[in-house]
Amino acid sequence: MDIVVSGIRPTGHLHLGNYFGAVKNFVKMQHEHDCFFFIADYHSLTTHPTPADLYANVKRVLISFLAAGIDPEKATLYIQSDIPEVAELYLLLNMNAYLGELERVASFKEKVRLQPNNVNAGLLTYPALMAADVLIHKAAKVPVGKDQEQHLEMIRTFSNRFNRIYNIDYFPAPVAFNFGEELIKIPGLDGSTKMSKSEGDANAIYLSDAPETIRKKIMRAVTDAGPTQSDQPKSQPIENLFHLMKVLSPADTYAHFITLYNNCQVRYGDMKKHLAEDAIAFTRPFRERIGELEANNNYLHKVAVLGAEKARASASQTIKEVREIIGFRHI
Ligand code: TRP
Repeated sequence: MDIVVSGIRPTGHLHLGNYFGAVKNFVKMQHEHDCFFFIADYHSLTTHPTPADLYANVKRVLISFLAAGIDPEKATLYIQSDIPEVAELYLLLNMNAYLGELERVASFKEKVRLQPNNVNAGLLTYPALMAADVLIHKAAKVPVGKDQEQHLEMIRTFSNRFNRIYNIDYFPAPVAFNFGEELIKIPGLDGSTKMSKSEGDANAIYLSDAPETIRKKIMRAVTDAGPTQSDQPKSQPIENLFHLMKVLSPADTYAHFITLYNNCQVRYGDMKKHLAEDAIAFTRPFRERIGELEANNNYLHKVAVLGAEKARASASQTIKEVREIIGFRHI
């Protein structure tokens, strides 16, 4: 069984983009691989959350993961900061992570551009922390989207470098991994091509959203003036609505509205009403599970403790070996 590791930063409940882009695949993988899924709360400190927000968001992601079908008995589901071995491996990897290569990472350059007043060392060494997350379990596979490809490349660099320095074949060189179907990229409601939290809450449909919230968000989604000639190419916002409909609605609803669009008879208000009801139906089981889990702190606590125990068993073994390899030996 391959060892698989992946993490998600705690930004709140998962939205449909997280679900179709990652978590749906995690749920399938857990039956076939030795999976470690974690909430990357150390990583989220680069944005300086308040303690209350950090706590609430870690809990929301944990609840969302469970509601989405991750089985804590099958996969190891844990909170990153419960595993101090990760922080230790991060420190050790940082000693062989170079300023030049870290500065060249596209996500880092993007942050420098977007937030010039908060270019902290945690942002710079983000790939080293990711490497620690993955290498602490000696994972071979990392299920991530295309946007993480460069980070994965860095993880391989750090892994190979460690092996070379100590002349040992210890860490694997992990590769990106998609399980089963291709990951589905969910567009935003604001006309952008990606559903994401950073674009604001109105852009995303959360697994936890109340039916009325979903209706409002979808009715307010960006559209255009409508087609004026048959088979007119679709603008991005309309492409997005159809894309969402394809994922969430029955095939005949989708086909019906495609035909109306091509005949210039589409009414976006009507299309959105259908889409909203289908989105509400799709998210219903998640919403119900989330409600139950929110009321069951006892169970959440048990899940977190179990996950921490399982993850630490694997992590402490690696750290013990790494310390030995590096030369930290008992005197
Ligand atoms: N960087 C990932 C993201 O932004 C989250 C993450 C942190 C991660 N550590 C990881 C993903 C290790 C895979 C493996 O979504």
